Amino acid sequence: MALNSGEAMIIALDGPAASGKGTLARRLAAHFGLPHLDTGLLYRAAARALIDSGDRLDDESRAVAAARGLALTDFNEEVLRGREMGEAASVVAAIPAVRAVLLDTQRAFASRPGGAVLDGRDVGTVICPEADVKIFVTANLETRANRRALELAKRGEKVDYADVLADILKRDQRDSSRTSAPLLRADDAATLDTTHLDVNAAFAAALKIVSGRATHMGSA
Ligand code: DC
Repeated sequence: MALNSGEAMIIALDGPAASGKGTLARRLAAHFGLPHLDTGLLYRAAARALIDSGDRLDDESRAVAAARGLALTDFNEEVLRGREMGEAASVVAAIPAVRAVLLDTQRAFASRPGGAVLDGRDVGTVICPEADVKIFVTANLETRANRRALELAKRGEKVDYADVLADILKRDQRDSSRTSAPLLRADDAATLDTTHLDVNAAFAAALKIVSGRATHMGSA
């Protein structure tokens, strides 16, 4: 692993919606000079393609075709980060054949020279079970709903806190109960609860986990 040794380091962050994993993943990637993949964008982009072509989100063959057609470089985050796209992505992500199509793309990203940081729901369990560092990022429901409502308001979306909370709850349930690669903490993941942490404190805690893991592996 690559803290000092020059070997590749893969950092996997998983967790429920608005837990803070995306922000942490971006900051860790910048800190270590690693590429970052927000795997949720893949499902959001597949869902967007289905909506654009007028297909149903649960149409397996159309969803598989949409997933096959994705290019990692052309995500329009402005469009994809909207509230309804999170829900749509969660529906598409429950289709096992879609997950199978996106598996190789994610693994190829993770095996870049030097390593990578990936965040999502199944990075530590399915995509990169051999990741050097696994962090399960969590926060209580109200905190996550607050964060998501603020984020959506900043994007200029009209949001109602109760609706956002209901969205997150529904998504958590769907993402955790699906049969294929459900949201799950990997047995060897460190848990990072960001409920009472601001962004800087959460980042400091994540860095501590990464260096602890490096020491544990004998390469720090
Ligand atoms: O992380 P996000 O909110 O952008 O993810 C949107 C949805 O995509 C999420 O509700 C479930 C799905 N997803 C998934 O199933 N597996 C991943 N690795 C990432 C996201």
